[in-house]
Amino acid sequence: HGTSRVNEKGHLEIGGVDVVELAETYGTPLYIYDVALIRARARAFQEAFRRHGVRAQVAYASKAFSSIAMVQLAAEEGMSLDVVSGGELHTALVAGFPPERIHFHGNNKSREELAMALESGIGCIVVDNFYELELIEELAEASGRTVPILLRVTPGVEAHTHDYILTGQEDSKFGFDLHNGQADQAFRRVMSAKAFRLLGVHCHIGSQIFETAGFVLATQKVFAKLAEWNREHRFVPEVVNLGGGFGIRYTEEDDPIPVAMYVDCIVEEAKKQAREYELPLPEIWIEPGRSLVGDAGTTIYTIGSRKDVPNVRTYVAVDGGMSDNIRPALYGAKYEAMLANRMWGERTEVVSIAGKCCESGDMLIWDLALPEAKPGDYLAVFCTGAYGYSMANNYNRLPRPAVVFVENGDAQLVVKRETYDDLIQYDLPWKTKVKK
Ligand code: LLP
Repeated sequence: HGTSRVNEKGHLEIGGVDVVELAETYGTPLYIYDVALIRARARAFQEAFRRHGVRAQVAYASKAFSSIAMVQLAAEEGMSLDVVSGGELHTALVAGFPPERIHFHGNNKSREELAMALESGIGCIVVDNFYELELIEELAEASGRTVPILLRVTPGVEAHTHDYILTGQEDSKFGFDLHNGQADQAFRRVMSAKAFRLLGVHCHIGSQIFETAGFVLATQKVFAKLAEWNREHRFVPEVVNLGGGFGIRYTEEDDPIPVAMYVDCIVEEAKKQAREYELPLPEIWIEPGRSLVGDAGTTIYTIGSRKDVPNVRTYVAVDGGMSDNIRPALYGAKYEAMLANRMWGERTEVVSIAGKCCESGDMLIWDLALPEAKPGDYLAVFCTGAYGYSMANNYNRLPRPAVVFVENGDAQLVVKRETYDDLIQYDLPWKTKVKK
């Protein structure tokens, strides 16, 4: 998919670049992003809104993969940006992302993070809780600014996805509850203070969602609340943000719909609701992460050791694992893979791909059909572009991989591989106190 194909050597090629050559140049594990595919996804979202003739912002949820180059690519494609921490905000600002198109999320933003956001002239803070309202008010008063905000509400919509990443259900650490008066209380609090410019509301119902029903339901709930605030307080929302969560295909078990169809459902429902409640149609914002970068990312590993457990299974180990992709260990996430240097090889054996970290749970793929894998072969694991590098860690003191962007036959290193010295750069020696 994307610009991936098999070249005359039988090697995987992405963005017109031979993946085996990339592995040899930059080493493994290596993250490779198909830039053309990211652009295509961004354009598909934006084009879908254009077709409906509605004002919209598509904010890239940079938690999926944040780096300076990635943020610059998002800017190049005219996207807005969702950040969730001082670190992601700093990355965006250093990358030169227009602050007025940055949206700041999070359920426990610190005073320092909020001050940094206000200082930068951020486009919008998505306020999660009462404590945050207080902090922002203090900071705004001290600086004489008015802060554009959205109120994050919890619509009580349960999306069918993995439990760990459910955020829209009632029992959630995120947002003001829509049904028990919290959201109303927050609304009154905001309206009575000069510090805020309330743009509207935000909700996010989960991640890796395939069906559209949850988005339709969330849209209805949000509009019902906005209509109430409009009737009772003459509040006219400028923005409704319906979050991200659009699913992608990791394996053939997943059956996503094209991204434009999510937009169609959301926009049609928003128009219907606005008409019913006689509200002007607000700007519609969404914040996809996974569906923008997920299937554009491929991880290349070098195959090393093998262990046969007779009559049970064969473990084939690679030079990375839960340190560069924790999703299988954390969520039981599934991936497809193939030998990047033998793409035409017949899949003659079934093996399980183990990482190199020191624990049994460090498995990347169970029961994968592959051509007989030998040490030195390259394994390409597909669809690792979202929450792969961004959740990478240094467990077992493994250096984080390098990241390369490829497009039109060009490869560009966008994140350097960590070195052993990088790993110890913050370590300080213990000054042994020897008793004399
Ligand atoms: N907006 C909000 C408020 C979010 O919490 C998230 C994701 C997104 C947008 C983007 O969602 P996406 O379009 O990427 O599904 N680490 C997990 C996913 C955690 C998602 C957290 N929130 C994973 O690897 O599956």
